[in-house]
Amino acid sequence: MKVLIFLEELSVLRIIFRFGGIAMLVAAIVILAVLPFATSFVEQWSRRDVELRSRLVFNSVRDQVSGLLARNDAQQAGILFERIATDERVLAIGYCDGQELRFPTSNMPPSFSCSEASRSDAESFSVVRSQDRNILVSSFPLNAGGRRGHLVVLHDLSYADQRGGEARNYLFLALAGVAFGAAALAAMIAAIIMRRWLASIRQALESARAGNANPPPEENIIPLGQEIRDVLQELEASRRTIDAAHTDWSPETLRAALSNELSGSEVIVVSNREPYIHNRTEGGEISLQIPASGLVSALEPVVRACGGTWVAHGSGTADRDTVDAYDRVPVPPNHPSYTLRRVWLSEEEQDGYYYGAANEGLWPLCHIAFVRPVFRETDWQLYRSVNEKFAEAVVAEAKREDPIILVQDYHFALLPRMIRDRLPRATIVTFWHIPWPNAEIFGICPWREEVIDGLLGSSILGFHTQAHCNNFLDSVDSYVESRIDRERDSVIFGGEETLIRPYPISIEWPPTAMEGQRPVEECRRIVRERLGLPLTMRIGVGIERFDYTKGIIDRMQAIDTLLAEHPEWRGNFAFVQVAAPTRSKLSNYRQLQEEAEALARDINEKHGGNGYEPIKLLIRHHEPHEVFELFRAADLCIVSSLHDGMNLVAKEFVAARDDEQGVLILSAFAGASRELSEALIVNPYNAHAMGEAINRALTMPQPEQRERMRLMRDQVKERNVYRWAGQMLLAASRLRKQQRIRRLIARGRRLAPANA
Ligand code: F6P
Repeated sequence: MKVLIFLEELSVLRIIFRFGGIAMLVAAIVILAVLPFATSFVEQWSRRDVELRSRLVFNSVRDQVSGLLARNDAQQAGILFERIATDERVLAIGYCDGQELRFPTSNMPPSFSCSEASRSDAESFSVVRSQDRNILVSSFPLNAGGRRGHLVVLHDLSYADQRGGEARNYLFLALAGVAFGAAALAAMIAAIIMRRWLASIRQALESARAGNANPPPEENIIPLGQEIRDVLQELEASRRTIDAAHTDWSPETLRAALSNELSGSEVIVVSNREPYIHNRTEGGEISLQIPASGLVSALEPVVRACGGTWVAHGSGTADRDTVDAYDRVPVPPNHPSYTLRRVWLSEEEQDGYYYGAANEGLWPLCHIAFVRPVFRETDWQLYRSVNEKFAEAVVAEAKREDPIILVQDYHFALLPRMIRDRLPRATIVTFWHIPWPNAEIFGICPWREEVIDGLLGSSILGFHTQAHCNNFLDSVDSYVESRIDRERDSVIFGGEETLIRPYPISIEWPPTAMEGQRPVEECRRIVRERLGLPLTMRIGVGIERFDYTKGIIDRMQAIDTLLAEHPEWRGNFAFVQVAAPTRSKLSNYRQLQEEAEALARDINEKHGGNGYEPIKLLIRHHEPHEVFELFRAADLCIVSSLHDGMNLVAKEFVAARDDEQGVLILSAFAGASRELSEALIVNPYNAHAMGEAINRALTMPQPEQRERMRLMRDQVKERNVYRWAGQMLLAASRLRKQQRIRRLIARGRRLAPANA
């Protein structure tokens, strides 16, 4: 946009000079044409003035002169004539008696003779030249003593000449002033029009970027280069695409939007966790696992819809056995629609990059869970070199020089910059799936400048919430030299702009895991039977990875409180906690698991008995269809994260409940609470209040459950993962079009109208 503004100023100046110059030239021609006429007009007007004066003189003295001449009183006639000649405009006066000049006043030019005066029967005026000046000779017939003569009055015309000259000068100055004013006015009008045209382009760019403003009217962009017009029209079309798909995002609308907006573009996704893991079982068979990862469950349906390549760490024990010679495998295995490109990491690399820098450093740094981050320099070096390795893999997979690359998560903070260095024309959209801490907390990270620099290699950087975007902008402001555009929510760093945007992640709608699900009543029965619970038992569920950010301990304490304060639920309520082991190499995770197991035992001993266990802890990975069955069987679901970017479990519970029953208890510190406000929102640090919320959920009337669930389902249905991906990809598409306009401008295409 800076380039555009600079060009705008330049163009406006050019227009001012061009229009001003033309107007001045026209004015000069007008002045040259008009001046001679104006001068002669002033001279004639002055002469008529003098003639009028002569006539006045004659009329006032005619009778007196006539009497004096009749009496031949030469002395009095001379005195009278001299008196008349004192008038400053009268040069001389005399009487022509035939050829003889009588009583001439003292100023009478010696060269004057009566032959120069007309002696007709009517008054007459003629101009004679004497001593380098023009003299008007007025001749009036006058009878005196029966003789016919002429009174001659001479006027010096040099003052009229002088008046003509002065008039010419004034006129010249006046015309020049008017011409200058007209030139300035013309230039100003031209500049205003020019600014409108340029504002139209900027408005088009802004409106395309915001996706909600009106495009500039067609007539405003007519004088622009054809290519720029084309791109602006594409931008407008992309805005319409977004509007059309606004309320109804599905795999089809996403595919349609992509083929309209990004046809021919290459999409490459990069994440640490792969969407399909091949493991070797004890019996030597190959089994397929879909990992318990919010990132995977959100992104996989999107990549299935739009195709492309997904680059990820091959972490399964049979992964190497299932790839081709280029480390690629088509997935999903039964209906392949995209390519999974696996990257191999050594044990040492995994320890330093994944367990160390990512999960002992950045993960606790970004989550407020009061677990101290560990920053080891050796880990960081491995983090850097693994990011390099993925950058090489991305470049190797790219078939074009301008692919769209979707970089995922905190494992790859340095990757955007590394890709940008190798593929400068790539559109890099990075999504940070976890919270971004406030600037003060982020400031403790010894690698803070490098992390920010790496992320600012992105074209667009997304977070779940506006609050996380704001925290990121504040961190940039605090720790690197850059320009932050708060209006556009962007950072200009090293001459490149990165847009910072909130994109709340979600789940597919309808979820694949709902396919083949039995009716709710059946799920309730099957699950209770499987868990050895009576059919009348009310159950709550919690499902996640065994992570200290999820508030698993806190929710167990809430159940303890509930059973202590509402003993009527003993024997009537059980809580099923499904926890998938995760990052077990790290002591914090192992300790959490041990602590949770011990606490479950304590609570079961304290409140259980006679075969009743209030807490059922299932520590194993559950496939999506099992998870959904559990959701459908439950009366309530607890998501008590201490801090969470979004939390998709909350949304999956809502999606599973097509019977519009069940209550969601949701932490205020999960991003999902911004969208699912009909849940019972709790503070997970307050065990008593959370216990009361569980009691409230268990006693909530069915109509109220329905009302709340209906609203939440509408929300998740509309703001599904296709919308999340679609908005990012369409933002990338708009950005590419805007960059095309800038490239055209940079190549010196004419922005100004051709005839300006
Ligand atoms: O929350 C960020 C996230 O990437 C989730 O998408 C995912 O559940 C988790 O972190 C990653 O887990 P893992 O370390 O097992 O890949």
